[in-house]
Amino acid sequence: MTVTVYIPGDSGALALGADKVARAIDAELRGRGLDAKIVRNGSRGAFFLEPLVEVETAQGRVAYGPVSAKDVPSLFDADLLAGGQHRLSLGDPEQIPFFAKQTRLTFARCGLTDPLSLDDYRRHGGLAGLEKAVAMAPADIVKTVTDSGLRGRGGAGFPTGIKWNTVLNATAERKYIVCNADEGDSATFADRMIMEGDPFVLIEGMAIAGIATGATKGYVYIRSEYPHAVAAMRAAVEAARKAGVLGPTVLGSPNAFDMEVRVGAGAYVCGEETSLLNSLEGKRGVVRAKPPLPALQGLFGKPTVINNVISLASVPIILDKGAAFYKDFGMGRSRGTIPIQIAGNVKHGGLFETAFGLTLGEIVDGIGGGTASGRPVKAVQVGGPLGAYFPRTLFDTPFDYEEFAKRDGLIGHAGITVFDDGADMLKMARFAMEFCAIESCGKCTPCRIGSTRGVETIDKIAMGVEADKNLELVTDLCNTMKFGSLCALGGFTPYPVMSAITHFPDDFRPRAVAEAAE
Ligand SMILES: Cc1cc2nc3c(=O)[nH]c(=O)nc-3n(C[C@H](O)[C@H](O)[C@H](O)COP(=O)(O)O)c2cc1C
Ligand code: SF4
Repeated sequence: MTVTVYIPGDSGALALGADKVARAIDAELRGRGLDAKIVRNGSRGAFFLEPLVEVETAQGRVAYGPVSAKDVPSLFDADLLAGGQHRLSLGDPEQIPFFAKQTRLTFARCGLTDPLSLDDYRRHGGLAGLEKAVAMAPADIVKTVTDSGLRGRGGAGFPTGIKWNTVLNATAERKYIVCNADEGDSATFADRMIMEGDPFVLIEGMAIAGIATGATKGYVYIRSEYPHAVAAMRAAVEAARKAGVLGPTVLGSPNAFDMEVRVGAGAYVCGEETSLLNSLEGKRGVVRAKPPLPALQGLFGKPTVINNVISLASVPIILDKGAAFYKDFGMGRSRGTIPIQIAGNVKHGGLFETAFGLTLGEIVDGIGGGTASGRPVKAVQVGGPLGAYFPRTLFDTPFDYEEFAKRDGLIGHAGITVFDDGADMLKMARFAMEFCAIESCGKCTPCRIGSTRGVETIDKIAMGVEADKNLELVTDLCNTMKFGSLCALGGFTPYPVMSAITHFPDDFRPRAVAEAAE
């Protein structure tokens, strides 16, 4: 039997040298006259173990990591192809605690399969959801998604089924499914990982969305910084078309659905859904006023479902296993699982899919293992650049949309950035305002002007210029931005700023001029 060796082709693993490892393994196989098949799989998401090499033996998979090219000869000396013992041995990958503790629904195949093999996809349960969907009435598909409790994973947490229902009930000669793969939030990489590691699950989710709402065309809008995801999605769309998963008769049914991949222009605000639609139409990425909702007048003025990658990629398992199965996971109104992405100054960075409800402390200390620097955790920012900074005193907050909102925070796309006690929270507040100023689309005044005034005012606080008065001014400005901005870029920038001021007041005391200007 030819042994299969899995070496991730995921961008994160590539950044850590996976291509070099693949070349070294290939050279060693040739040099030793050995026969093995190399599969470039996605990543399982434990980036502290990447490049994670796995060998399929008669006893199951055996993992080694993190492997560098120079380790490869000794791995072969230790009989790698038979799963031999080596100092990098990790044993059965499923038993590695970081993986064993997860509940993988959306990411069930990611890192396990050959991402571009439709056969492998089917073998691991792929297309079961779409097969069920083609035999269902559109309204029943929408009802299943609604009943599952799935909420948008892009940030706003809006119920997916309700959005789909609006599009289903809209009358138009053409409707669209748009997948938001702009993934601009700091600490987030779930969309990228699924597109590179299991692209067919997104295609399947989009096809189900199309059949459910009467849309026959889909677009995936991928940020330009994700060339590997773009390539994987394009190759997977081509393969799906060839196999009849996409096209005029989806899986031989009377339903037509096809899709295209589009590359973004490189602006954070193009992740905002209406700005994204403008960009897709070839216009400048400026936010549109709502109403009209994209569900009624979206892409090219037609009813459009716009959903995040993870929202759509979670649909196949819901259709396959049923609404009740999915809804059974989670807490409160946050149902199902969420791929939490842990990054920043953290020991065990990576993607951890689990049911909603773990506390922030369990995630950061337990799963993340604390800081990489070994120093105490000072703050974590949850939800990307527009998310609040939480101190340790809020580590009992359960990962749940409502629980975070109660504490003036947000889950967003579930990215967590960890900071140790070296972090200067005034600088982080300044950064939030500066980020908003740089990324603002310029359409509304509170965001366009307010963010620049915010930077100036925080600089004054740092330099001790009327510090109390200027702190009051920043608070006032944050209220204006929060309630007066057209979209969440200006509207949510107050979260990181005000949480830094509220939870870390000591960092906002005047400091020496030279230090402030650093
Ligand atoms: C400034 C800004 C950036 C955003 N960036 C993204 C993004 O990169 N990806 C995403 O899915 N949603 C992003 N959103 C949220 C989208 O506007 C929208 O809510 C989402 O695509 C809806 O899909 P969902 O319901 O599946 O979450 C962003 C919103 C704002 C205000
Ligand atoms: S809040 Fe900022 S990004 Fe959003 S519409 Fe206004 S100017 Fe544009």
